[in-house]
Amino acid sequence: MAATTPNALEVNNLRFNAEAAAWDSNKKHVESVEKAFDAIKRSIPAFSDGSSKNLDVLEIGCGTGLLSFRLAPLVRSLVGVDTADGMIAAFNQKVAVLPDPYKANLAAVNVLVQEADDVHVQGAAAALASRRGESGHDQPYRFDLVVSHLTLHHIPSMPAVFATIFQCLKPGGRIALTDYEDFGESAVRFHPKSKREGVERHGIKKDEVEMIIDGTGFNMVKVEEAFVLRKEVEAENGEPKREMDFPFVICLGQRS
Ligand SMILES: C[S@@+](CC[C@H](N)C(=O)[O-])C[C@H]1O[C@@H](n2cnc3c(N)ncnc32)[C@H](O)[C@@H]1O
Repeated sequence: MAATTPNALEVNNLRFNAEAAAWDSNKKHVESVEKAFDAIKRSIPAFSDGSSKNLDVLEIGCGTGLLSFRLAPLVRSLVGVDTADGMIAAFNQKVAVLPDPYKANLAAVNVLVQEADDVHVQGAAAALASRRGESGHDQPYRFDLVVSHLTLHHIPSMPAVFATIFQCLKPGGRIALTDYEDFGESAVRFHPKSKREGVERHGIKKDEVEMIIDGTGFNMVKVEEAFVLRKEVEAENGEPKREMDFPFVICLGQRS
């Protein structure tokens, strides 16, 4: 039988399964998450007005939980989704060793979310609700905040993912999604050549994503520069190995 070529999702899953165990020891992964965490806290009013403990959060592409574990103590619940088994396994290993009060409000599931009523997401949200003593829930679970970091550039259809995210939100719910910006040709150097397969786009084009978010029906849409990550890029096409600054954007909007 002829071998089939893996699709982008399979390529990504293979890559992230292989990288999961060492993911958190990469200083640039940690630095970029810390900057994203600060940008999310600055941009979402609940983190400055003292109401963040009311937030139920959905994180798309949670990976090993670098962002999830920072957000979870500040919010009511956090459900992470990711398509790579290895990343979810690393997330769960970290949850397992957390002291009790800190592990109660976060969970991760391996799923490609394509609809708000996804059984895995609903199951995880229900499990967290039951841990905090809620019994039964008439409606499907919806979220106050959807976050993601460094994941949009892997997702094939931005209109489709924003439509799903919109449906996952409660009325009044917000998005805060961070990723590196496509600022021109050199943005491709964010990934070394060996990691470019499975990358759908070399960063986020501000105007393009703003139009998509707007077209999905979000209000108060803003896509703005959030921080800069300086990292080493490999030598390529006669250009030497060097440090480069990569601007990151945060995509904001609110469901009416
Ligand atoms: C660059 S990693 C970032 C992980 C994490 N957010 C962090 O910053 O440490 C991208 C993650 O997105 C996941 N991913 C890729 N496509 C996805 C999709 N369509 N839905 C959910 N997760 C996805 C990958 O498995 C991977 O864990």
